[in-house]
Amino acid sequence: MKFFIDTANLAQIKEANELGILDGVTTNPSLMAKEGIKGSDAVMAHYKTICELVDGDISAEVISTDFNGIVEEGKKLAAIHPNIVVKVPMIKDGVKALKWFTDNGIKTNCTLVFSAGQAILAAKAGATYLSPFIGRIDDSNWDGVELIAQISQIYSIQGFKTQILAASIRNALHIVKCAEAGADVCTCPLDSILGLLKHPLTDIGLAKFLEDAKKTA
Ligand code: E4P
Repeated sequence: MKFFIDTANLAQIKEANELGILDGVTTNPSLMAKEGIKGSDAVMAHYKTICELVDGDISAEVISTDFNGIVEEGKKLAAIHPNIVVKVPMIKDGVKALKWFTDNGIKTNCTLVFSAGQAILAAKAGATYLSPFIGRIDDSNWDGVELIAQISQIYSIQGFKTQILAASIRNALHIVKCAEAGADVCTCPLDSILGLLKHPLTDIGLAKFLEDAKKTA
């Protein structure tokens, strides 16, 4: 399973990258706004900086909602760097645009996915990645990880090549459960990635080893 970091914060991207386990980055307009990035030139420049920091797929989201607008915006985003993946919302014109990008060799990430039916449509349109929003599904009293398992089974039976990118991850357990359910990628906040490190017996064991090492010094 690949690990992406889900942020536009450069310090967090650097910290995750230095761990040596980072395969890419996802962003969205809310994450860009959180970093105070304002204006389309600044947004484009920020994507370029991220591409220069991380050697992997970098998702850049369109904000147009009509076919022509999505395609024009996506072409500009894809021109920033070969690693850019155009992030397209799961709407009717989005599906049409996904197919256009597929036919024109531009990688895509279909975002705002909440059902298996949407996952089938995106795969039919040739999306490179599919982003089901696990945390937001859990928030609405459904089971986000169950959706990952269902999509994984459908894609496997049908031979779809679209990669399942589990998004809206809220904690380290989500990452483990998504890996178990067949996600190809997890995009996570830095805290959830670092949460994977934690186990009290590791801390207790290390403290004891360091204490005993003093006796052998
Ligand atoms: C990433 O691609 C998604 O935009 C992101 O994971 C959404 O996360 P949220 O539900 O925490 O906003």
